[in-house]
Amino acid sequence: MRPGYGAVEARAAGDAIRHRINVKPRVGIILGSGLGGIAQTIEEPVRMPYRDIPGFPSATIAGHAGELVTGILGGTPVAAMSGRFHLYEGHSADLTGFPVRVLHALGAAILIVSNAAGGVRASLAPGTLMLITDHINFMFRNPLVGPLQAGDTRFPDMSEPYDPALRAVAQRVAKEQGLDLAQGVYAAELGPSYETGAEVAMLTRLGADAVGMSTVPEVIVARALGMRVLGLSCITNLACGLSATPITHDEVLETTAKVAARLQRLVRGIVSSL
Ligand code: HPA
Repeated sequence: MRPGYGAVEARAAGDAIRHRINVKPRVGIILGSGLGGIAQTIEEPVRMPYRDIPGFPSATIAGHAGELVTGILGGTPVAAMSGRFHLYEGHSADLTGFPVRVLHALGAAILIVSNAAGGVRASLAPGTLMLITDHINFMFRNPLVGPLQAGDTRFPDMSEPYDPALRAVAQRVAKEQGLDLAQGVYAAELGPSYETGAEVAMLTRLGADAVGMSTVPEVIVARALGMRVLGLSCITNLACGLSATPITHDEVLETTAKVAARLQRLVRGIVSSL
């Protein structure tokens, strides 16, 4: 691991943030592309741009707000990272997991991750919300590679990376809200190119339902720290080969904009029953 994004740095960032916020977050939230709207619904918000968080890279990320928003959501103290660090931007795997270390240092025992993803299973139409049941790491990177960090498990068990009890809460809340919530396996690949048709055919055979370019490093760090994880994908497009039209990032953002309100309601409902 390159120095800079481990337990010591997370503790330092946590200490600096704690002095500026009014809550002790129980739930950490990471918001994917176009899904930052949830952060706008947090009450009594305290916002910190990433450049004010010690240890965070100062470079801003195109299309991402890049701020930490703490406050109350559905009656629960939360800390939401609006904007994440992707491997495809050239960031190291340990940095992609660093925001999770910071959320944990602030006191969050639960992590909710959201992302935009392509539908590999043909029945996952654009606009579908999918509860992540499991993942496949096709990034071939792991944020835990390197010296063992204080508080980490060296060899984390990954049999239930997405907490069954939290998944049950998500399903119950979705039902109460009359919301269709699909379920499936999320495959993470490095990007930034989208998959080829042959790669999507491979992913289908290997058991993936959706594909994206994030989330998995964050979930691995969360599990190493013993956090319970809930993952939600917003299916923004059919994966390559399943649709006649090419995939564009604009299409991804357009669909997330349409689905954002539903996801927002779902996350608020879930958080309020934790
Ligand atoms: N592939 C990979 N990542 C994505 C996609 C996709 O089709 N859609 C949104 N993120």
